[in-house]
Amino acid sequence: MSRIQRDIIVREVGLRDGLQIHPTFMPTTDKLAWIQNEAQAGVPEIEVTSFVPPKLIPQFADASEVCQGALEIQDLVVSALIPNLKGAQRGIELGVKKLNYVVSVSKTHNLKNVRRERDASIEDFKAIVNLIKTLPLEQRPFIGAGLSTALGCSYEGKIALSEVVLCAEQLLDAGADEIVVCDTVGYADPALVRAVMKAVLAVAGHVPVAAHFHDTRGTGLANVTAALDCGIKYFDASLGGLGGCPFAPGASGNIVMEDLCFMLDAMGLKTGVNLDLLLKTRETMSKSLSDLKLHGALARAGLPNGYVSTLQAQEA
Ligand code: COA
Ligand code: ZN
Repeated sequence: MSRIQRDIIVREVGLRDGLQIHPTFMPTTDKLAWIQNEAQAGVPEIEVTSFVPPKLIPQFADASEVCQGALEIQDLVVSALIPNLKGAQRGIELGVKKLNYVVSVSKTHNLKNVRRERDASIEDFKAIVNLIKTLPLEQRPFIGAGLSTALGCSYEGKIALSEVVLCAEQLLDAGADEIVVCDTVGYADPALVRAVMKAVLAVAGHVPVAAHFHDTRGTGLANVTAALDCGIKYFDASLGGLGGCPFAPGASGNIVMEDLCFMLDAMGLKTGVNLDLLLKTRETMSKSLSDLKLHGALARAGLPNGYVSTLQAQEA
Protein backbone atom coordinates (compact mmCIF):
# COMPACT_ATOMS: atom_id res chain seq x y z
CA MET A 1 0.00 0.00 0.00
CA SER A 2 1.23 3.48 -0.80
CA ARG A 3 2.13 5.71 2.09
CA ILE A 4 -0.70 8.09 2.97
CA GLN A 5 -0.10 11.60 1.68
CA ARG A 6 -1.54 14.55 3.54
CA ASP A 7 -1.63 18.22 2.56
CA ILE A 8 -3.69 19.08 5.62
CA ILE A 9 -3.68 17.50 9.07
CA VAL A 10 -7.14 17.18 10.60
CA ARG A 11 -7.35 16.49 14.34
CA GLU A 12 -10.35 15.01 16.11
CA VAL A 13 -11.21 16.83 19.33
CA GLY A 14 -14.73 15.53 19.99
CA LEU A 15 -13.63 13.09 22.67
CA ARG A 16 -12.40 16.07 24.66
CA ASP A 17 -14.24 19.20 23.46
CA GLY A 18 -17.47 17.30 22.76
CA LEU A 19 -17.58 15.08 25.79
CA GLN A 20 -16.54 17.74 28.33
CA ILE A 21 -20.03 19.27 28.22
CA HIS A 22 -21.87 15.96 28.03
CA PRO A 23 -23.19 14.94 31.44
CA THR A 24 -23.70 11.26 30.59
CA PHE A 25 -20.54 9.19 30.98
CA MET A 26 -19.57 7.53 27.71
CA PRO A 27 -18.29 4.04 28.51
CA THR A 28 -14.53 3.69 28.09
CA THR A 29 -14.92 0.86 25.58
CA ASP A 30 -17.14 3.10 23.41
CA LYS A 31 -14.58 5.91 23.57
CA LEU A 32 -11.87 3.48 22.51
CA ALA A 33 -14.03 2.11 19.67
CA TRP A 34 -14.57 5.68 18.45
CA ILE A 35 -10.82 6.36 18.53
CA GLN A 36 -9.99 3.06 16.84
CA ASN A 37 -12.57 3.55 14.06
CA GLU A 38 -11.62 7.14 13.36
CA ALA A 39 -7.93 6.28 13.26
CA GLN A 40 -8.82 3.47 10.86
CA ALA A 41 -10.66 6.02 8.71
CA GLY A 42 -7.36 7.87 8.39
CA VAL A 43 -7.63 10.69 10.93
CA PRO A 44 -4.00 11.07 11.97
CA GLU A 45 -4.38 12.81 15.34
CA ILE A 46 -6.97 12.50 18.09
CA GLU A 47 -7.26 14.45 21.34
CA VAL A 48 -8.49 11.51 23.37
CA THR A 49 -9.16 12.99 26.81
CA SER A 50 -8.53 15.79 29.27
CA PHE A 51 -6.35 15.65 32.38
CA VAL A 52 -8.63 17.74 34.56
CA PRO A 53 -9.75 16.80 38.08
CA PRO A 54 -12.32 14.00 37.68
CA LYS A 55 -14.37 15.70 40.38
CA LEU A 56 -14.72 18.74 38.10
CA ILE A 57 -15.51 16.79 34.89
CA PRO A 58 -16.41 13.16 35.73
CA GLN A 59 -16.54 12.34 31.99
CA PHE A 60 -12.72 12.17 32.12
CA ALA A 61 -12.42 9.89 35.13
CA ASP A 62 -11.15 7.21 32.73
CA ALA A 63 -8.41 9.42 31.20
CA SER A 64 -5.66 6.88 31.99
CA GLU A 65 -7.47 3.90 30.46
CA VAL A 66 -8.44 5.87 27.37
CA CYS A 67 -4.85 7.04 26.84
CA GLN A 68 -3.40 3.60 27.40
CA GLY A 69 -5.81 2.07 24.87
CA ALA A 70 -5.27 4.82 22.31
CA LEU A 71 -1.49 4.62 22.62
CA GLU A 72 -1.64 1.06 21.32
CA ILE A 73 -2.96 2.24 17.94
CA GLN A 74 -0.18 2.29 15.41
CA ASP A 75 0.73 5.62 13.79
CA LEU A 76 -1.95 7.57 15.66
CA VAL A 77 -0.85 10.81 17.30
CA VAL A 78 -2.55 10.67 20.69
CA SER A 79 -2.96 14.00 22.42
CA ALA A 80 -4.67 15.15 25.60
CA LEU A 81 -5.69 18.49 27.04
CA ILE A 82 -3.92 19.75 30.14
CA PRO A 83 -5.06 22.78 32.14
CA ASN A 84 -2.09 22.90 34.52
CA LEU A 85 1.21 21.36 35.67
CA LYS A 86 -0.57 18.51 37.43
CA GLY A 87 -2.27 17.60 34.14
CA ALA A 88 1.13 17.57 32.43
CA GLN A 89 2.54 15.28 35.10
CA ARG A 90 -0.34 12.85 34.59
CA GLY A 91 0.14 12.86 30.81
CA ILE A 92 3.91 12.38 31.01
CA GLU A 93 3.51 9.47 33.44
CA LEU A 94 1.28 7.72 30.90
CA GLY A 95 3.67 8.36 28.03
CA VAL A 96 1.32 10.66 26.07
CA LYS A 97 3.43 12.19 23.30
CA LYS A 98 1.41 15.35 22.75
CA LEU A 99 0.01 17.61 25.44
CA ASN A 100 -2.33 20.49 24.61
CA TYR A 101 -2.13 23.28 27.16
CA VAL A 102 -4.75 26.01 27.15
CA VAL A 103 -4.65 29.70 28.09
CA SER A 104 -7.48 32.13 27.40
CA VAL A 105 -6.61 35.46 25.86
CA SER A 106 -9.70 36.80 27.62
CA LYS A 107 -8.62 37.31 31.23
CA THR A 108 -12.19 36.80 32.41
CA HIS A 109 -12.53 33.49 30.60
CA ASN A 110 -9.17 32.35 31.92
CA LEU A 111 -10.34 33.00 35.48
CA LYS A 112 -13.62 31.15 34.92
CA ASN A 113 -12.01 28.27 33.07
CA VAL A 114 -8.89 27.52 35.07
CA ARG A 115 -9.48 29.64 38.18
CA ARG A 116 -6.40 31.80 37.92
CA GLU A 117 -5.07 34.94 36.28
CA ARG A 118 -3.81 34.70 32.73
CA ASP A 119 -0.27 35.60 33.84
CA ALA A 120 -0.38 32.73 36.33
CA SER A 121 -1.35 30.39 33.49
CA ILE A 122 1.66 31.59 31.49
CA GLU A 123 3.91 30.96 34.52
CA ASP A 124 2.44 27.47 34.86
CA PHE A 125 3.21 26.86 31.19
CA LYS A 126 6.85 27.77 31.85
CA ALA A 127 6.91 25.26 34.71
CA ILE A 128 5.52 22.59 32.36
CA VAL A 129 8.20 23.29 29.76
CA ASN A 130 10.87 23.15 32.49
CA LEU A 131 9.50 19.81 33.64
CA ILE A 132 9.62 18.49 30.07
CA LYS A 133 13.24 19.63 29.74
CA THR A 134 14.23 17.45 32.67
CA LEU A 135 13.15 14.34 30.74
CA PRO A 136 15.42 12.33 28.44
CA LEU A 137 14.97 13.53 24.85
CA GLU A 138 13.01 10.47 23.69
CA GLN A 139 10.51 10.85 26.53
CA ARG A 140 9.73 14.53 25.95
CA PRO A 141 6.17 15.15 24.78
CA PHE A 142 5.33 17.73 22.14
CA ILE A 143 3.73 20.65 23.96
CA GLY A 144 1.04 22.61 22.15
CA ALA A 145 -0.38 25.88 23.44
CA GLY A 146 -3.98 26.81 22.73
CA LEU A 147 -5.04 30.44 22.71
CA SER A 148 -8.61 30.10 23.86
CA THR A 149 -11.10 32.93 23.07
CA ALA A 150 -8.55 34.41 20.61
CA LEU A 151 -11.36 35.43 18.26
CA GLY A 152 -13.91 36.61 20.78
CA CYS A 153 -15.26 35.92 24.24
CA SER A 154 -18.80 35.66 25.56
CA TYR A 155 -17.73 37.57 28.71
CA GLU A 156 -15.53 40.26 27.17
CA GLY A 157 -16.80 40.47 23.57
CA LYS A 158 -14.11 41.55 21.12
CA ILE A 159 -10.55 40.58 21.94
CA ALA A 160 -7.75 42.99 21.03
CA LEU A 161 -5.35 41.62 18.44
CA SER A 162 -2.45 42.99 20.47
CA GLU A 163 -3.49 40.74 23.39
CA VAL A 164 -3.61 37.68 21.13
CA VAL A 165 -0.13 38.44 19.82
CA LEU A 166 1.18 39.11 23.34
CA CYS A 167 -0.10 35.75 24.58
CA ALA A 168 1.29 33.96 21.54
CA GLU A 169 4.69 35.57 22.08
CA GLN A 170 4.72 34.67 25.77
CA LEU A 171 3.92 31.03 25.00
CA LEU A 172 6.45 30.87 22.16
CA ASP A 173 9.15 32.43 24.36
CA ALA A 174 8.34 29.86 27.00
CA GLY A 175 8.88 27.03 24.48
CA ALA A 176 5.55 26.11 22.86
CA ASP A 177 5.95 23.56 20.03
CA GLU A 178 2.68 24.68 18.42
CA ILE A 179 0.20 27.53 18.75
CA VAL A 180 -3.50 26.78 18.34
CA VAL A 181 -5.72 29.77 17.60
CA CYS A 182 -9.11 28.95 19.10
CA ASP A 183 -12.51 30.46 18.39
CA THR A 184 -13.92 29.00 21.58
CA VAL A 185 -17.37 30.55 21.31
CA GLY A 186 -17.76 30.82 17.54
CA TYR A 187 -17.48 34.60 17.15
CA ALA A 188 -15.07 34.60 14.20
CA ASP A 189 -15.62 35.55 10.59
CA PRO A 190 -13.22 35.06 7.67
CA ALA A 191 -11.93 38.65 7.76
CA LEU A 192 -11.10 38.40 11.46
CA VAL A 193 -9.49 34.99 10.92
CA ARG A 194 -7.22 36.47 8.24
CA ALA A 195 -6.16 39.34 10.50
CA VAL A 196 -5.50 37.15 13.55
CA MET A 197 -3.77 34.32 11.67
CA LYS A 198 -1.53 36.76 9.83
CA ALA A 199 -0.48 38.39 13.09
CA VAL A 200 0.13 35.09 14.89
CA LEU A 201 2.02 33.57 11.96
CA ALA A 202 4.25 36.65 11.89
CA VAL A 203 5.46 35.96 15.44
CA ALA A 204 5.39 32.14 15.28
CA GLY A 205 8.34 31.79 12.88
CA HIS A 206 8.96 28.07 12.28
CA VAL A 207 6.52 26.98 15.00
CA PRO A 208 3.33 25.49 13.48
CA VAL A 209 0.06 27.36 13.91
CA ALA A 210 -3.23 25.44 14.02
CA ALA A 211 -6.87 26.51 13.89
CA HIS A 212 -9.65 25.45 16.26
CA PHE A 213 -13.03 26.74 15.12
CA HIS A 214 -16.51 26.36 16.54
CA ASP A 215 -19.45 26.65 14.18
CA THR A 216 -21.77 28.41 16.61
CA ARG A 217 -22.86 31.05 14.10
CA GLY A 218 -22.42 29.13 10.85
CA THR A 219 -19.07 30.66 9.89
CA GLY A 220 -16.95 27.58 10.66
CA LEU A 221 -16.01 26.32 7.19
CA ALA A 222 -15.75 29.83 5.76
CA ASN A 223 -13.22 30.47 8.53
CA VAL A 224 -11.33 27.35 7.46
CA THR A 225 -10.94 28.67 3.91
CA ALA A 226 -9.70 31.99 5.26
CA ALA A 227 -7.15 30.14 7.41
CA LEU A 228 -6.13 27.98 4.42
CA ASP A 229 -5.47 31.16 2.44
CA CYS A 230 -3.11 32.25 5.23
CA GLY A 231 -1.24 28.94 4.96
CA ILE A 232 -2.68 27.10 7.98
CA LYS A 233 -2.36 23.33 7.60
CA TYR A 234 -3.65 22.00 10.93
CA PHE A 235 -7.35 22.00 11.77
CA ASP A 236 -9.27 20.73 14.80
CA ALA A 237 -12.79 19.41 14.23
CA SER A 238 -15.17 16.96 15.82
CA LEU A 239 -17.21 14.11 14.51
CA GLY A 240 -20.85 15.15 14.34
CA GLY A 241 -19.85 18.67 15.36
CA LEU A 242 -19.86 17.93 19.08
CA GLY A 243 -18.22 20.46 21.34
CA GLY A 244 -18.40 23.36 23.75
CA CYS A 245 -16.67 24.84 26.75
CA PRO A 246 -18.45 24.28 30.06
CA PHE A 247 -17.11 27.62 31.34
CA ALA A 248 -18.12 29.82 28.39
CA PRO A 249 -21.78 30.75 28.07
CA GLY A 250 -23.28 30.06 24.64
CA ALA A 251 -20.45 27.79 23.51
CA SER A 252 -21.51 25.10 21.05
CA GLY A 253 -20.03 22.57 18.66
CA ASN A 254 -16.77 22.48 16.78
CA ILE A 255 -16.73 22.45 13.00
CA VAL A 256 -17.96 19.08 11.76
CA MET A 257 -15.10 16.68 10.96
CA GLU A 258 -17.00 14.97 8.12
CA ASP A 259 -17.88 18.29 6.44
CA LEU A 260 -14.35 19.62 6.89
CA CYS A 261 -12.81 16.49 5.34
CA PHE A 262 -15.27 16.59 2.45
CA MET A 263 -14.63 20.26 1.73
CA LEU A 264 -10.85 19.86 1.82
CA ASP A 265 -11.03 16.72 -0.31
CA ALA A 266 -13.31 18.40 -2.86
CA MET A 267 -10.76 21.22 -3.05
CA GLY A 268 -8.13 18.65 -3.97
CA LEU A 269 -6.38 18.86 -0.60
CA LYS A 270 -5.35 15.44 0.71
CA THR A 271 -6.29 14.67 4.29
CA GLY A 272 -5.69 10.90 4.13
CA VAL A 273 -9.24 10.38 5.42
CA ASN A 274 -11.59 7.83 3.88
CA LEU A 275 -14.93 9.65 3.86
CA ASP A 276 -17.04 6.47 3.83
CA LEU A 277 -15.22 5.06 6.84
CA LEU A 278 -15.54 8.41 8.59
CA LEU A 279 -19.32 8.38 8.08
CA LYS A 280 -19.45 4.83 9.42
CA THR A 281 -17.48 5.92 12.46
CA ARG A 282 -20.06 8.63 13.04
CA GLU A 283 -22.86 6.10 12.85
CA THR A 284 -21.26 3.79 15.40
CA MET A 285 -20.35 6.65 17.69
CA SER A 286 -23.88 8.07 17.56
CA LYS A 287 -25.30 4.81 18.94
CA SER A 288 -23.45 5.24 22.20
CA LEU A 289 -24.36 8.95 22.38
CA SER A 290 -28.04 8.60 21.54
CA ASP A 291 -28.96 11.51 23.86
CA LEU A 292 -26.80 13.94 21.85
CA LYS A 293 -27.81 15.76 18.68
CA LEU A 294 -25.21 15.38 15.98
CA HIS A 295 -24.62 18.01 13.31
CA GLY A 296 -23.32 17.72 9.80
CA ALA A 297 -24.32 18.29 6.19
CA LEU A 298 -22.38 15.44 4.58
CA ALA A 299 -24.07 12.83 6.76
CA ARG A 300 -27.45 14.34 5.83
CA ALA A 301 -26.87 14.77 2.08
CA GLY A 302 -24.33 12.07 1.25
CA LEU A 303 -21.46 12.34 -1.21
CA PRO A 304 -22.22 13.89 -4.64
CA ASN A 305 -23.15 11.47 -7.39
CA GLY A 306 -20.00 9.99 -8.95
CA TYR A 307 -17.72 11.65 -6.42
CA VAL A 308 -14.10 10.48 -6.62
CA SER A 309 -12.12 11.32 -3.51
CA THR A 310 -8.43 12.28 -3.59
CA LEU A 311 -7.76 8.99 -1.79
CA GLN A 312 -9.48 6.98 -4.55
CA ALA A 313 -7.74 9.04 -7.23
CA GLN A 314 -4.41 8.31 -5.52
CA GLU A 315 -5.10 4.56 -5.36
CA ALA A 316 -6.35 4.33 -8.96
N1 COA B 1 -5.81 16.49 37.35
C1 COA B 1 -6.31 15.90 38.46
N2 COA B 1 -6.45 16.52 39.64
C2 COA B 1 -6.07 17.81 39.70
C3 COA B 1 -5.56 18.49 38.58
C4 COA B 1 -5.43 17.78 37.37
N3 COA B 1 -4.97 18.35 36.27
N4 COA B 1 -5.29 19.75 38.94
C5 COA B 1 -5.61 19.88 40.22
N5 COA B 1 -6.09 18.70 40.70
C6 COA B 1 -6.59 18.40 42.03
C7 COA B 1 -5.65 18.88 43.11
O1 COA B 1 -4.70 17.87 43.43
C8 COA B 1 -6.61 19.14 44.26
O2 COA B 1 -6.99 17.90 44.82
P1 COA B 1 -7.41 17.76 46.37
O3 COA B 1 -8.66 18.58 46.53
O4 COA B 1 -7.65 16.31 46.53
O5 COA B 1 -6.25 18.30 47.14
C9 COA B 1 -7.84 19.71 43.55
O6 COA B 1 -7.79 19.17 42.22
C10 COA B 1 -7.87 21.21 43.50
O7 COA B 1 -6.60 21.66 42.99
P2 COA B 1 -6.33 23.18 42.60
O8 COA B 1 -4.94 23.30 42.08
O9 COA B 1 -6.72 24.06 43.75
O10 COA B 1 -7.29 23.38 41.40
P3 COA B 1 -8.46 24.42 41.19
O11 COA B 1 -9.63 24.01 41.98
O12 COA B 1 -7.93 25.81 41.35
O13 COA B 1 -8.82 24.18 39.64
C11 COA B 1 -8.02 23.58 37.47
C12 COA B 1 -7.88 24.51 38.64
C13 COA B 1 -7.14 24.12 36.35
C14 COA B 1 -7.55 22.19 37.86
C15 COA B 1 -9.51 23.50 37.03
O14 COA B 1 -10.06 24.78 37.00
C16 COA B 1 -9.68 22.87 35.66
O15 COA B 1 -9.43 21.69 35.49
N6 COA B 1 -10.12 23.63 34.63
C17 COA B 1 -10.24 23.13 33.30
C18 COA B 1 -11.62 23.37 32.82
C19 COA B 1 -11.83 22.78 31.46
O16 COA B 1 -11.62 21.62 31.24
N7 COA B 1 -12.28 23.62 30.51
C20 COA B 1 -12.56 23.22 29.20
C21 COA B 1 -11.38 22.97 28.36
S1 COA B 1 -10.56 24.42 27.82
ZN1 ZN C 1 -13.14 24.22 21.55
